[in-house]
Amino acid sequence: MREHTPNTVYLKDYTPPDYLIETVDLFFELDEENTRVTSKLRIRRNPESPGEHRELELDGEQLVLESIRLNGRNLNAADYRLGDESLVLPGVPDRPFELEIVTRINPKANTALEGLYLSKDMLCTQCEAQGFRKITYFADRPDVMAKYTTTIVADKSRYPVLLSNGNRIATGELKNGRHWVKWEDPFKKPSYLFALVAGRLECLEDRYVTCSGREVTLQIFVEKHDLDKCDHAMQSLKNAMRWDEENFGREYDLDLYMIVAVGHFNMGAMENKGLNVFNTKYVLARPDTATDADYEHIEGVIGHEYFHNWTGNRITCRDWFQLSLKEGLTVFRDQEFSADRTSRAVKRIDEVNMLRTRQFAEDAGPLAHPVRPESYIEINNFYTLTVYEKGAEVVRMIQTLIGKEGFRKGTDLYFERHDGQAVTCDDFVKCMEDASGVDLAQFRLWYGQAGTPEVRISADYDATNRALNLTVRQSCPATPGQPVKAPFHIPLAIGLLAPDGTELPLRLDGETEPFAQKTRVLDVKASEQHFRFVGLAEKPVVSALRGFSAPVRLHLDRSVEELAFLFSHDPDPFNRWDAGQQLASQVILDLVDQYAEGETPAAADGPLTEAYRRVLSGNWPDLSYLALLLTLPSEEYISAAMKVIDPDAVHRARQTAKLALARTLEAEFRRLYETHHVDEAGRFDAEAVGRRRLKNACLAYLGMLESEEAYRLSVRQFRSARTMTDQISSLAVIVNGHHPEKAACLTEFYERWRAEDLVIDKWFTLQATCHLPGTLDRVKELLAHPAFDLKIPNRVCCLIGAFTQNNAVNFHARDGAGYEFLADQIIALNSLNPQVAARMLTALTPWRRYDEDRQQLMRRQLQRIAGLEKVSKDVYEVAMKSLS
Ligand code: TRP
Ligand code: ZN
Repeated sequence: MREHTPNTVYLKDYTPPDYLIETVDLFFELDEENTRVTSKLRIRRNPESPGEHRELELDGEQLVLESIRLNGRNLNAADYRLGDESLVLPGVPDRPFELEIVTRINPKANTALEGLYLSKDMLCTQCEAQGFRKITYFADRPDVMAKYTTTIVADKSRYPVLLSNGNRIATGELKNGRHWVKWEDPFKKPSYLFALVAGRLECLEDRYVTCSGREVTLQIFVEKHDLDKCDHAMQSLKNAMRWDEENFGREYDLDLYMIVAVGHFNMGAMENKGLNVFNTKYVLARPDTATDADYEHIEGVIGHEYFHNWTGNRITCRDWFQLSLKEGLTVFRDQEFSADRTSRAVKRIDEVNMLRTRQFAEDAGPLAHPVRPESYIEINNFYTLTVYEKGAEVVRMIQTLIGKEGFRKGTDLYFERHDGQAVTCDDFVKCMEDASGVDLAQFRLWYGQAGTPEVRISADYDATNRALNLTVRQSCPATPGQPVKAPFHIPLAIGLLAPDGTELPLRLDGETEPFAQKTRVLDVKASEQHFRFVGLAEKPVVSALRGFSAPVRLHLDRSVEELAFLFSHDPDPFNRWDAGQQLASQVILDLVDQYAEGETPAAADGPLTEAYRRVLSGNWPDLSYLALLLTLPSEEYISAAMKVIDPDAVHRARQTAKLALARTLEAEFRRLYETHHVDEAGRFDAEAVGRRRLKNACLAYLGMLESEEAYRLSVRQFRSARTMTDQISSLAVIVNGHHPEKAACLTEFYERWRAEDLVIDKWFTLQATCHLPGTLDRVKELLAHPAFDLKIPNRVCCLIGAFTQNNAVNFHARDGAGYEFLADQIIALNSLNPQVAARMLTALTPWRRYDEDRQQLMRRQLQRIAGLEKVSKDVYEVAMKSLS
């Protein structure tokens, strides 16, 4: 077991800092293994801190302290206390003073990728959330905001490019082939936004003229080999800058905006002021190396980091419990940006798919926590789907409740009131209330209560009075530390459809004026509430939770006929798609039951085929949307509806349903495939993307047939593809079947792309997600492949993450081999990269959802990990909470 149980940090213990740091002057003498950091701080007592004369306590980890000077005087060991994670100075002056600290660090030994580290030949930093303390001793908390200057000295041939936040204000040459650059960031910022990059980098440069006419230089730094893959990222950046001006009135504030792409990175990207650092996968794209999904993600993430400049950097978080203040809001902003850039309906469906499968699972398991958590052991474990995606839903609900105009007034007020401050989620909600006049007191519970609310709707048509009585009930399951919940304020968007598919008026009993819109948002606030709609000549079909207006589980008993009707007629594109998902889920879950009872079902399709046939005969302007209508719900989504998850039965049932559709609708899929399989250069526009998405969905159905014909089509597409979307889609069909040329195609693909890391990542994923037997053995072989490296997070996610999170049948093999394999990898990762290890470990967290045998096998591996002698905080917290 661990020697010391790590501390838990509580929101309720928050106190303002005793000391403020006004300026930070950093001086880096870079060296791969021995970097020297000199930090000069101007410090003063915080007039707002209640404490009397207190000690000055700075954070620091894995640092070698060389010297400390206070107001120019050298301190010796008796003047301070040095701990493993802190430096305490008991006697500091009451008046402002200067502290100079010299430390040494070893970037090469830093495989955790937090602080200053080496990625290939490049030195770079990652400071969020608490990485700055691995660079120098500092008050490493977001409510200490300071102005920074940074001087970097390094060997000129190895590190010709030296970057930090803000503007470059001076440069110079030194002897012994060294040079230096000095940077100044005019904006106050918390330490987590500090960044430094040094390396042999090439740069794509462009310019942008802001709405007030200021010219900004835009630079994207990459390795030379990747310079031809930056155009899309650059265009995305310009799109994002324009969009934020037009939609939120936000203008960029420095003369320079830099993005650096690095190959070793723990997450997606980081919004450091003026110097974003990105995972290469969210920058690099060329039609032949990146898929349409990659292109979309790049635009979304570039937007996300850019939008942080206002929501995150200019206005930051008071403490890490407020993380969703910046992340939820910024995700909401990037979602809206993407919706405007692509297809709003498709974007919404993609978001909800992820929320309903993965965030709902988080909310239903032992790691459930509120959007604003109350405690943590390791903050890095709280960059979760709940904080990000549910946090964005909470912001979206505010917009739904106070209207688009009210919301814009609210954000305007927020920027005006809090610019330059470190604030709380509550400060944000207060702005929304003050600007709109809408009371959000009960709404605030979304920040503090964990768990996914369940909403049950029953509809009762009263023919005599031409009225529809709706009863809406809500409840929320218990979550760790929160046995009982108060009712939420839920915006419930609703429409009523006549039997011919037209929308009916939404007049509530007692209203004289008819309601003008086709969709009406009901304020659901009590645990049981009644709504009576009048003036309805016929029994309507209820279209509820339109656009997924709240992150809840909806229960509304509907017949197969009603679902099929909505799937053909609902004008709300989200609900129309969702009706198809519910219909397909019912069909697949029926199959699951039949398997459980030992039956072999005869016909698997029936109503689903008919519904699909109608959809296929329609005329669809948005082909991406059509592709989604034709996609069966994921195994994950279907599993969520089961009491005890049976991964084998779910997989078999879904495959059976898919095969049945492929058999009956072969001709239609074939026709659509041929119509849209056109020779093309790989443009990334809605039409071309839609064609590819639809065509490849059809190819996946045809592939189910394992016919000569399907083999021919997929291998033809694989060999002639001009886009990565087409190539990888056909290869996926080949890999998941028994295509005679499978091995040859995989080898061809590897040989062709061996110099492109991001494409090789796809090669790993494709094999790791193959649902056929024998995959675990292949994954184990791939661990030994020369291109695999446990120190590269992208590789780990693409092989180990893909296998454990996107291959349920194989990961949950009855003998427990999948679990043991994962635990082995986590034990290795625990000492290399705790952040990534903890994230991988969450695949074992939902063990209670499985049968007794699997429960035991999963729990055994969790216990094995929790019992490690040198377990990191990150891994310890996930293992311990998963077991509890
Ligand atoms: N703030 C980043 C974002 O959401 C995410 C982030 C947090 C991060 N910690 C990180 C990225 C560590 C990389 C490494 O945009
Ligand atoms: Zn973010």
